[in-house]
Amino acid sequence: MRVFVAGASGAIGARLVPQLVEAGHDVIGSFRSPGNAERVRALGAEPVALDLLDRRAVRKAVLESAPDAIVHQATALANMRFSRRFDRAFAPTNRLRTEGTGALLAAAREAGVRRFVAQSFASARYERAGGWVKTEDDPLDPDPAPTMRQTAAAMRHLDEAVVDAGGIALRYGGFYGAANDGLLEPVRKRQFPIVGDGDGVSSFIHLDDAAAATVLALAHDRAGIFNVVDDEPAPVREWLPVLADVLGASPPRRVPRWVARLLAGDAAVMMGTESRGASNAKARRELGWEPRHASWRQGFAAAYARGGARLSSAA
Ligand SMILES: NC(=O)c1ccc[n+]([C@@H]2O[C@H](COP(=O)([O-])OP(=O)(O)OC[C@H]3O[C@@H](n4cnc5c(N)ncnc54)[C@H](OP(=O)(O)O)[C@@H]3O)[C@@H](O)[C@H]2O)c1
Repeated sequence: MRVFVAGASGAIGARLVPQLVEAGHDVIGSFRSPGNAERVRALGAEPVALDLLDRRAVRKAVLESAPDAIVHQATALANMRFSRRFDRAFAPTNRLRTEGTGALLAAAREAGVRRFVAQSFASARYERAGGWVKTEDDPLDPDPAPTMRQTAAAMRHLDEAVVDAGGIALRYGGFYGAANDGLLEPVRKRQFPIVGDGDGVSSFIHLDDAAAATVLALAHDRAGIFNVVDDEPAPVREWLPVLADVLGASPPRRVPRWVARLLAGDAAVMMGTESRGASNAKARRELGWEPRHASWRQGFAAAYARGGARLSSAA
């Protein structure tokens, strides 16, 4: 197939393009930052400069490259700093998830594109009630933390728009394995604490495994949503000390909820204490996907031990 990857120069795009080429696809890869054309070419794709928020440019790029499939992996998270104003930090990415998705879907319809796969997110989105590990059929949080309402709405919009159009939304776990992973520095500096009892559950996924599931999703006939996460959703109190240890950092601090709310805001408290993780049973069953890094326990060490993240194909 001819596959158009929007966001080919990013953390997941850079892992995905070589896997698509390896699987025999011709890849057109878009980038946003000047200077990334060579990077995309070196990955094995034909580079195209594109701002997904420029609807006419999206239409032109898609019609000219005439792909059989589109994969939307564009976010604007590089150099982002988590802050108390969660939605403000995610605002550019939220636009890519709403307007950007709309522009790509419209262009896909016009160009007769047969397959559409888009990046979504799994952790911290499901209802904060009942079991701690959720499937795709479980309800999303009907009442997200106030500072992350716009971000939750943008992800919900993407899921619905893509599935309504006959495509696939992949709810990835928290990515790890990139050299520019925003989690690493705060953990090294002990700025990422365990909040309260650290009950909030996270689901992770190694970038190579996320890319492998994406390649398989392109071959899948039916529209739908898939959690693409590893086998071990885990509370913060379990995974954070392991990550700190792998990075050679001191053990994480512990802070009461009220202190975390004051310093880091309600989204940080929610993720640290109430967030639900996700099950990968559907992706395993229906996509025939199996993560090579079945758990972050081994995966963090494989990605970060001895001198940091693998730089070869990482952002
Ligand atoms: N599920 C997750 O946990 C998750 C999801 C996404 C990202 N992240 C993390 O966030 C960090 C940063 O991610 P990243 O390195 O992929 O950077 P990023 O800034 O999120 O960029 C991702 C891709 O989107 C492109 N892009 C950005 N703005 C665009 C626009 N307006 N129009 C079209 N394309 C646009 C980028 O192009 P250029 O590179 O050319 O600017 C890049 O190809 C990484 O550590 C990553 O692991 C985590």
